[in-house]
Amino acid sequence: MSPRSAIVLAGGLGTRLRPLTERRPKQMLPIVDRPMIEHVVAKLATEGTDDVVLSLGYRPDDFGAAYPSGRCGGAGLRYATEPEPLGTAGAILFAARQASTGNGEAAVGDPFAETFWALNGDVLTDAPLGELLELHRSRAAEATILTIPMTDASRYGLVESDGSGRVRRFVEKPAGAAAASGWINAGVYVLEPSLLARIPSGRPVSMEREIFPSVAADGALYALRSESYWIDAGTPASYLRANIDLTSGRREMSLRPLSPRATVSPAAEVARSVVMERAVVEAGARLEGSVVLPGARIAAGAVVVDSVVGYDAVVGPGAAVAGFTLLGDGVTVATGESLQGARR
Ligand code: GDD
Ligand code: MG
Repeated sequence: MSPRSAIVLAGGLGTRLRPLTERRPKQMLPIVDRPMIEHVVAKLATEGTDDVVLSLGYRPDDFGAAYPSGRCGGAGLRYATEPEPLGTAGAILFAARQASTGNGEAAVGDPFAETFWALNGDVLTDAPLGELLELHRSRAAEATILTIPMTDASRYGLVESDGSGRVRRFVEKPAGAAAASGWINAGVYVLEPSLLARIPSGRPVSMEREIFPSVAADGALYALRSESYWIDAGTPASYLRANIDLTSGRREMSLRPLSPRATVSPAAEVARSVVMERAVVEAGARLEGSVVLPGARIAAGAVVVDSVVGYDAVVGPGAAVAGFTLLGDGVTVATGESLQGARR
């Protein structure tokens, strides 16, 4: 049986996606047709988990406002808001304590006194969570991590494991030669309550830098290797990819790239791009590898390549925007102006 409850980390500042995250948390940014967090929670709900505790810090009220019914992606939501950022492990401890002392409607008993899920809130994947749980149980592990092959591990946690899945070494954000290809931490974990007892309270604690290395040293950390679809949608390039992959048949589920509530001229050229509700793409405009957020307008003859056009932003007639440019809410790019790799 799948764990009853999950903690999803969604308290980061989303710095790498600024200015898109200036007025909303990263997990509230839409991926195709719904906020990122809904895709993450839906994956857990599919596994049979109905109680998801969101660990929040930055702009926590945005979540309550978006899900007033307390349901999201097919599961019930509860919130644990940190007074200050506690790091990935500190946040999990804080959330587990908040949830078990029963702020809001606590599940019967303490769901964090049994095996539970913990996830990074920016991870979209088709990986088999059931297999992760099976490995965890068959090895009587204290923590089991989903891992994915990656050619450059420097942005991730590098996980070295043996044939049985036992983790020998966990190195967060490896530098230099150590950052070569390998299996990286996918940010999806099965955890035992005993792991919570390893987390010191009252100061920020990193799961990746402190807790996992110590569990590995005790031989109680395991890893499942999966080659399923996986992406961390937390950088400009990966946010674009996450949107495009979900509309181009690379995922188990495929969604329409153009919202039925967008207005796209038949005389516009749209390739590998996502256009969200209320957005307008005028005649002679060209979009390639880009995401147009709700209410934005791409004027006649404008060209947008590998870029994100923010909520209600306007790319003026004949303007050119490229190279992972991120345009914030309501920003205007003037007629004929050219932007390359800009943040505005
Ligand atoms: N509540 C809370 N408090 N949440 C936090 C905090 C905090 O202090 N810091 C970060 N988060 C949340 C973020 O919102 C995000 O959902 C998740 O924790 C991970 O933080 P990121 O900032 O996205 O980390 P990363 O992508 O650099 O690295 C992590 O994810 C990689 C896979 O995507 C690490 O876990 C790596 O080991 C891993 O490979
Ligand atoms: Mg991330």
